[in-house]
Amino acid sequence: MAETWVRMVTAQTPTNIAVIKYWGKRDETLILPVNDSISVTLDPAHLCTTTTVAVSPSFVQDRMWLNGKEISLSGGRYQNCLREIRARACDVEDKERGINISKKDWEKLHVHIASYNNFPTAAGLASSAAGFACLVFALAKLMNAKEDNSKLSAIARQGSGSACRSLFGGFVKWNMGKFEDGSDSLAVEVVDEKHWDDLVIIIAVVSSRQKETSSTTGMRETVETSLLLQHRAKEIVPKRIIQMEEAIKNRDFASFAHLTCADSNQFHAVCLDTCPPIFYMNDTSHRIISCAEKWNRSEGTPQVAYTFDAGPNAVLIARNRQAAARLLQKLLFYFPPNSDTDLNSYVLGDKSILKDAG
Ligand code: ADP
Ligand code: DP6
Ligand code: CO
Repeated sequence: MAETWVRMVTAQTPTNIAVIKYWGKRDETLILPVNDSISVTLDPAHLCTTTTVAVSPSFVQDRMWLNGKEISLSGGRYQNCLREIRARACDVEDKERGINISKKDWEKLHVHIASYNNFPTAAGLASSAAGFACLVFALAKLMNAKEDNSKLSAIARQGSGSACRSLFGGFVKWNMGKFEDGSDSLAVEVVDEKHWDDLVIIIAVVSSRQKETSSTTGMRETVETSLLLQHRAKEIVPKRIIQMEEAIKNRDFASFAHLTCADSNQFHAVCLDTCPPIFYMNDTSHRIISCAEKWNRSEGTPQVAYTFDAGPNAVLIARNRQAAARLLQKLLFYFPPNSDTDLNSYVLGDKSILKDAG
């Protein structure tokens, strides 16, 4: 092997937004959740992570840059993902570049990783989901690890729980699993992105600032202090998961909207039930909820579903393009540009699939 070569792979992965939320772990190291969750994968053209992974015999250690800044890979989550993919690395014969890497070589080769999010990082728009899914997917390609996306999702899960759902397009379910080793805690496709293509997703960026309480810390405090979480995880979510799968399969927007909004509100109620309470939404978020609720009631049948992750930014799912156009009009009216309650931006997207740009 010549000592000068570099092999690179680039991948692009969309983010996903939960419509039935994951909040709370039963195992912090393996990242095993206290309940199942369901999400919708966004169009990678709008919100996505792009990650390039490179390997060269001249690299002396694993290194990573996130949005242009070097970050430490010493945290357990990055190490777990790297270890799991390395353990599955296979021979690589890169004819184009004249590179041969044997399975054994991977034990001593180091990688450099450069990742960019084209949307705010750590602001409640699931950057950890797109980020870790993309990292695992790109590493698997680089090292020729021959695992299917469900198996890869169980590895991405060990980077960030929500990441396991970004390995598929459309609507995706994360089964919490029963086993202690986490081998059955993985993502499965509910329906692909073509199944319900009337839906239009609008993201109203209320604030792109980094949140004060990370999802990881927030949910740990909730597990330690909230009684409401126990009730939610055991009694409420299992029923909602069944109802949500039905609503999605039947394209029943009224049930879908009802369940999505109720689950978002209950997740934020559980945050309030945490000691000390966690506030992810702000006044603008609350005003967006009121606006959507009022409109849905005045129409008699729901036009829009709203959901908020661990941050103030609204994810609005309109029933079709006409509803989306009317919703944008309303948002511009209630939150005029250059006013106190100006929304930073809108991102429009359909649902789409994982794209391999490599
Ligand atoms: P979010 O709501 O954006 O998912 P989290 O608090 O869950 O916020 O996670 C933010 C963390 O996820 C970041 O501090 C970083 O450690 C990690 N992360 C974000 N983007 C990437 C990426 N592209 N690649 C790897 N890790 C990432
Ligand atoms: C509110 O997956 O970011 O977005 O597993 O600790 O990395 P870690 O947390 P993360 O939590 C996501 C929480 C949520 C809901 C969801 O995506 O289901
Ligand atoms: Co996250």
